[in-house]
Amino acid sequence: MKSENPEIKPMNEEDITKVFDIERKSFPYPFGEILIGNIFFGAPELCFVMESQNEIIGFVLGGYTTVQGQTHILSIALLEEYRNKGWGRDLLIHFIKRTEILGYKSIKLEVQVDNDKAIQLYDTLGFDIISRIRKYYQDDSDAFLMVRS
Ligand SMILES: CC(C)(COP(=O)(O)OP(=O)(O)OC[C@H]1O[C@@H](n2cnc3c(N)ncnc32)[C@H](O)[C@@H]1OP(=O)(O)O)[C@@H](O)C(=O)NCCC(=O)NCCS
Repeated sequence: MKSENPEIKPMNEEDITKVFDIERKSFPYPFGEILIGNIFFGAPELCFVMESQNEIIGFVLGGYTTVQGQTHILSIALLEEYRNKGWGRDLLIHFIKRTEILGYKSIKLEVQVDNDKAIQLYDTLGFDIISRIRKYYQDDSDAFLMVRS
């Protein structure tokens, strides 16, 4: 059972620094704060934060692709102490619903091939592995391209 009730909110400009902080703690090669700002200003309607007790504990950053009707999840993460409670799933479901309401038909994302947990989460929400992108990350590791249509 969930002990607290996190809220999912549209991201604001003031949230960029905190989102960067979570990004930095979650990935070995994080997006920089300026890039996160650019992603946010590119599609604020596709960026969300998760709050628990008035603290931002997670986020999902979305954008558009060159494919008509398709959005792109550029990053999603929760602070470590808030993981494994089903909240990452809640955040992703929120993103999927919002994109559907906005009229988008498909979502793509890249995920490190050894990130079993995230791959499993995406799989259970209807994402399929479409291809393997060689040397996608800065350490030359590969990504899976996953798409939900
Ligand atoms: C990926 C992330 C956002 C998922 O959020 P979370 O709150 O931890 O995940 P949830 O508790 O909602 O679990 C979601 C699903 O992941 C899968 N999962 C969880 N733990 C798993 C494990 N050890 N092995 C395989 N799958 C696992 C399950 O399908 C689970 O769903 P279920 O509990 O209904 O079975 C979060 O773990 C995170 O921030 N990770 C670090 C950043 C990251 O890797 N982001 C993804 C980059 S593409």
